[in-house]
Amino acid sequence: MRTSLVIANWKLNGDLALVKEMATHFAGLLKDTTTTVVVCPPAVYLKAAEIALAPVNIKVGAQNCAAHTDGAFTGEISAQMMRECGASYVLVGHSERRAIFGESDDVLAEKIARVQESELTPVFCVGETLEEREADAVESVIEAQLNAGLAQADFSNLVIAYEPVWAIGTGKTASPEQAQEVHAMIRRWLRDKAPEQADTLQILYGGSVKADNADTLFNQPDIDGGLVGGASLSPEQFDAICKAA
Ligand code: G3P
Repeated sequence: MRTSLVIANWKLNGDLALVKEMATHFAGLLKDTTTTVVVCPPAVYLKAAEIALAPVNIKVGAQNCAAHTDGAFTGEISAQMMRECGASYVLVGHSERRAIFGESDDVLAEKIARVQESELTPVFCVGETLEEREADAVESVIEAQLNAGLAQADFSNLVIAYEPVWAIGTGKTASPEQAQEVHAMIRRWLRDKAPEQADTLQILYGGSVKADNADTLFNQPDIDGGLVGGASLSPEQFDAICKAA
């Protein structure tokens, strides 16, 4: 039996005021739920967010981390430093990290290792572009990303997020059937690569998750929750999405 997980990815948005607004809104709302709720603010707010959100049963996570543990890497932040600032989860391989910042499969595999060495839980993001979907290459693209990024992963401490690139920030959410089809393919891949963890490992959907579509998405058999961008910047919208999980 898998419990649900809903993660807010604030990206380059939010501030201390939103952290406080989130804590005020969620006070008392998550006492009786089995759903794990996580907020990933920009790294500079991690410690303040952990302090403000822990009392309302919200964990915090990082949106990224360095592929190295320490050294001459100006501007980088290590997984261990994220842990010291209160993070429990770290997003790895978000499509924006891949496309905008050029993160290769090898770098992502290193980041997975650093996160797990720091005893944090990596959320490994995969997803196809519109061109790849239109070329009927979804399965080959996703499998290649999984094989490369998770080559050395510990599957007992891992979350996978499927985020079709064409659904991110566009309002064009994958249909429940489209999402379930890819989630089921990821579950099959897991049964081959990590049979002991395949049926307990959480697979999240991300890409224009909103209050009005979360329920139909999260009711799919292989969708265990969501990775939410824009809608997570509204406490009310994010609350409605968490309730749907
Ligand atoms: O990581 C989640 C994000 O990529 C999805 O963004 O705005 O489509 O919910 P959004």
